This record gives sequence, structure tokens and C-alpha cells, in this order.
Amino acid sequence: MFHVFQELAEFEKLADQVMNTAEGLRRDGFEEPHPLFRCLVAEAEDEKKREEGPRLVGYALSHYIYSTWKGRSLYLEDLYVMPQYRGKGIGSKLLTATAELCLSLGCPRLQLSVLDWNQPAISFYQSCGGRNMSDEEGWRMIRFLPDDLRRMISKSAERPGDPGLA
Ligand code: ACO
Repeated sequence: MFHVFQELAEFEKLADQVMNTAEGLRRDGFEEPHPLFRCLVAEAEDEKKREEGPRLVGYALSHYIYSTWKGRSLYLEDLYVMPQYRGKGIGSKLLTATAELCLSLGCPRLQLSVLDWNQPAISFYQSCGGRNMSDEEGWRMIRFLPDDLRRMISKSAERPGDPGLA
């Protein structure tokens, strides 16, 4: 299954950022007492290789986030359909199943990020009723990588007399 996560990273031109492993995914999604994510999968049978059974052709991976305003919410980390299966309604089925999961978990909000050059996906989400929050409210995504975190922490340690946290 790990190969499909890599396919999406390659599609997004960010394959060099993949650090997770199949083992990490198994542990985090299937062996933790409280799994860190949920993954819905789409399977299809190859007409020419029926004896091999259905194979994975797409997935939707989501996990909880928490909003102080809305409470528990769901974040759609990845939605992916293999190229030869696109345009057949699989992506919208996966998104609809994630919407059902979202409401069944008591989450009033499903959130996701999409790269600004990925207009086909932006159009897809908008055709499904998703709102572009960068346009509507001006949100921007900020991220700290490990070096940024370490730099921040060591800078702070150099400043004497900072207020303590409890
Ligand atoms: N432009 C406009 N509308 C579109 C487009 C498009 N490029 N693609 C699909 N739609 C519309 C379809 O017309 C259809 O509408 P209809 O039901 O009225 O006919 C609807 O969206 C559903 O189309 P599906 O066939 O269900 O979409 P598909 O199976 O191709 O899945 C997806 C869409 C997931 C975006 C797929 O194309 C894909 O995997 N793309 C590459 C990876 C990607 O961009 N993933 C999203 C990244 S963001 C993230 O992961 C959170």
C-alpha cells in the first residue's frame, strides 16, 4: 500500500519529502491503541487479471485535528486515485465516504490543503461543495521543520528571564 502514498508525493512534486515508511504507517494506523489515522480504500478488478482479485486504485486518509472554535474536526491528509481510474467517480465516492465518516465521528468540519498549482483538484473539491478558505478568509499554511524548531528552542534558551510556562 505504501507505493500509493509515494505516487501522490510524486504527483505533488514533493517525493523528496517522504520520510515515513511502510512500517511506520502500519504502526501508526493499525497497531496503536488509538490509531493516528483512518484510511478508506477503493479497489477495482483488472478485467484481464480477474484471478488476482481486486487491487488498490485509490485512497482517502484522514485524522483528527482540534479546533478551539469548533471542537474535534477531521483533516483529509491525502486523496488519491490512480491515473487510469480517474474521472470514473471514484474520487467523489472516497470524498463522500470521508464526509460520512466526518459526521459520524461528530466532527462539524472537514479540512484539507491543496497545492496552488493543482487546479484540477481545486476544481474537483469546489465541484463537491468545498470552500476555498484562502480566498474567503485569507488563511495561509505555516509549517516548522525540525531545524526550525531546534533553532527556535535554542534561541529561546539564549534569552534569560523569559516568563515560565506551566
Ligand atoms: N476539473 C473539474 N471538475 C473535476 C475535475 C477537474 N479536473 N476532476 C473531477 N472533476 C469533477 C468531475 O467532473 C465529477 O463531477 P460530476 O460528478 O458532476 O461529473 C466530480 O469532480 C468527481 O469526479 P471523480 O471522477 O469522482 O474524480 P476522480 O476519481 O478523478 O478523483 C482526484 C479526483 C482525487 C482529484 C483525482 O483526480 C486524483 O487523484 N488526482 C491526483 C491527485 C490529487 O490531486 N489529489 C488531491 C490532492 S489534495 C489532498 O490530497 C488533500
